[in-house]
Amino acid sequence: PLPNPFMLPFRVPPVLEPIRRDRTGDHYQIVQRAATAEMLPGVRTGIWAYEGRFPGPTIRSPRGRRTIVSHRNDLPVPTVVHLHGGHTPAVDDGFPTDLIPPGGRRTYTYPLRQPAATLWYHDHRMDFTGPAVWRGLAGFHLITDPDEDRLGLPAADRDLPIMITDRSFDTDGSLLYPSLDPMLHHMAGVREPYGSGVLGDVVLVNGSAWPVAPVPAVRHRLRLLNASNARRYRLALDPPPPGGGGLVQIGADNGLLGAPITHDAIEIAPAERFDVIVDFGRYRPGTQVRLINTFGDRTTTPVMRFDITHTAPDDSRIPDALAPAAPPTPPPTVTRDLRLRHDTVNGMPGWTINGIPFDPRRPALTAQLGTTEIWRISSDFHHPVHLHLASFRVLGRGLGGPGPYDSGPKDTIDLRPAEQATIRVTFTDHPGRYVFHCHNLEHEDMGMMAAFDVTGAPF
Ligand code: C2O
Ligand code: CU
Repeated sequence: PLPNPFMLPFRVPPVLEPIRRDRTGDHYQIVQRAATAEMLPGVRTGIWAYEGRFPGPTIRSPRGRRTIVSHRNDLPVPTVVHLHGGHTPAVDDGFPTDLIPPGGRRTYTYPLRQPAATLWYHDHRMDFTGPAVWRGLAGFHLITDPDEDRLGLPAADRDLPIMITDRSFDTDGSLLYPSLDPMLHHMAGVREPYGSGVLGDVVLVNGSAWPVAPVPAVRHRLRLLNASNARRYRLALDPPPPGGGGLVQIGADNGLLGAPITHDAIEIAPAERFDVIVDFGRYRPGTQVRLINTFGDRTTTPVMRFDITHTAPDDSRIPDALAPAAPPTPPPTVTRDLRLRHDTVNGMPGWTINGIPFDPRRPALTAQLGTTEIWRISSDFHHPVHLHLASFRVLGRGLGGPGPYDSGPKDTIDLRPAEQATIRVTFTDHPGRYVFHCHNLEHEDMGMMAAFDVTGAPF
């Protein structure tokens, strides 16, 4: 039987200290290893995790500060590290076949010449990302910026990273994942009927089931990340604050919005980030405020709880103007159509893009550095589509404009069944081979990914 919700304390993942800061950048070391964690009250669950913790330690990098992370793989399978949302040279982007063998090491260098944002790092091995992330290979990597610090947003212990994942557990407390190959050596994919994505019946926040955070009655910044394999959430506060509008969005996947947007609820698909401010000063001390998932059932409706402890001074604010207007980009010169569909792959049920399952050696398209492209992406099911390297803007859905959750710089778009969305992307940074894919990790592992090449000189 499942435990009751709201028994574990909310934990913030520790911030990783660099082993060295020098002229070349900040240097970090991470060991990927097996460990145990208390995800359910009083239960030790085996995990695979960065530094043996789930979520892994948080890395904080000032904008433009070169960050050099060296990973050692002490796990029994190969791994790949991808910094999700990073504008990273191809050699360090964690291409799905660019493996760290068991016992091996690998150093990734991130220039991070990009705006402040909530990024995250996770495993990205071809065909096995779903089970690897499910076992715990995910952590936050925050980019900070003095311009953002000057805005006066809630900071320090009022700035909370919130990684939401769903998991299932066996009766002995171990994580349950329906792999075709539990050793994760050869055979990709999951047993039927899990082909459309693996869902759990327990919601974890920063690795703890339905935790409780005591908070003073002041504004807090919640960096919401949906790191679930396949579950979408519609997050709301229960009770809502008097007058509603409890979730004030200030940022999207890749950085701040131009101006805040007030929501009663936020729909968040796998890999998306929503940066929101909640003013707990709108509640009386003593109130218990649940963060709930209105898409959930009995066990997946509660997410976490905030217990309002006491009033306190609050000198934070939410300025009307957040990010400066983005620099102008070249007008679009290329339009592409991408169709994401359920399909048959090697005689098995699978998922494809334009009818082709992932082939790391055959890029689906080649983009020119310094150009802007329009991508029309269509979908038969829920597909959170993620593009490496470049951030994009959502121009519209169907015949209409962008949806309520499409504002700001994005790297993942939540496509709904039978929907077509249009995005605009400019390739500015780095040449080389990258991927785009569905971030439903079971779809990704079962073919719904494509390589693309970027050529030309940076402008
Ligand atoms: Cu978050 Cu290609 O991944
Ligand atoms: Cu998908």
